This record gives sequence, structure tokens and C-alpha cells, in this order.
Amino acid sequence: MEFRIAIFISGNGSNMLNIIEACKNNILESEVLVVVADNDKAGGINFAKQKRIDTFVIKKSSFETIEDFDNELLKLLNISGINLVCLAGYMSILSHNFLKKWKYKIINIHPSLLPKYKGLNTHKRVIQNNEVFSGCTVHYVDKDIDSGQIIDQKKVRILESDDKLTLQKKILKEEHKLYIKVLKQMEKNYEKK
Ligand code: GRF
Repeated sequence: MEFRIAIFISGNGSNMLNIIEACKNNILESEVLVVVADNDKAGGINFAKQKRIDTFVIKKSSFETIEDFDNELLKLLNISGINLVCLAGYMSILSHNFLKKWKYKIINIHPSLLPKYKGLNTHKRVIQNNEVFSGCTVHYVDKDIDSGQIIDQKKVRILESDDKLTLQKKILKEEHKLYIKVLKQMEKNYEKK
């Protein structure tokens, strides 16, 4: 089964770009149709444009109510026939209403071995706590931050020489692989249904 994917970003979009390329190179059967950023400074927007993906900046602050914001996102997903939303460094919190409507159709990548180190500054906290392992997790998104059902994880060993930047680099590399692995598995599972 191929998914019609929307990717939501806030920053560089390296995970986004990696998913777009995996689709274009037939590593995945799915297609990325839209990229949504929550701010116009997100570097990923330009990369998505270069790949000829429709891009939209939808800022929460531009709407009077959260319902209006929701409706704008829902309208876009409907019009584009999206059936899977991939969050990739998306920093805005989606409303409960939106998440309820899209339950099990939104996934996220987080740079830690959830349920450990939810939230921000994961690598800094991991290093401060002298952890021996960290990693990354792809999970379904539900109303609590970084708490939805875990789909898959990749463990990464932390070396004594690692600092938050080297760890971030190492984990980001694994994130790219893990996101594709999960999407591939989801494509397969969908076929079996
Ligand atoms: C990644 O580390 C991801 O796990 C986190 O935000 C970062 C986004 O990186 N949620 P990028 O924009 O995909 O390069």
C-alpha cells in the first residue's frame, strides 16, 4: 500500500528530505504530496520546493481560534487526499480534536529512546546523566507529548568522547534510517490488512 504523505516541519527538514528522496527513488512506494511548516523560516521549505513538493506555511498565530487552525490543516489534508502525516521536527502542538480525527495516521520521530527523555534538549540531558545509550524512536502521535504508541526504536551507544553535538549528529543519521524502515514496514502491514 502506498501512502499519500504530508510532512510537517519547523526546521531544517533533513528527515523530511530523506523521506521525499526515498519516495522519489522508489525505496518507498508512497508519495509526499505536501510539506507544511509552522513558520516561514523553516529551512526545509526551500528543500521541499526544490523537490517540487507543494509547501504551505500555516502558523497557529495567524488564526483567531484553535478550531480555525485545525480546520485549515484538515482542509489541506482532505483536498490533497493525504492518508498519513509524518511529523519531522514539527514544534507546534496539534489540538486534541485534530489528533482524535487523525488517530493512528500521524507519526513522529523523537531523538531519544522513549519513554525516556521526552520533550526538548534530549541530547544535553542524556549527556548530563551519563547515559551509556540513547537513540531514536518513531511513534504514533496522541494527545500527550512524545507519549503515543512506540512503533520502532534504534539504540545508539554513547562514547565518553561524545558531547551533545556529536551525539545529535550520530542519532540524526540513525533517525533517517529508522523513519524509512518504519514507513516501509507500514506499507507492508497495510497490504496485509
Ligand atoms: C530531529 O532530531 C527529530 O528527531 C526532532 O527534531 C529534529 C528534526 O531534524 N523531532 P530535521 O529537521 O529533520 O533535520
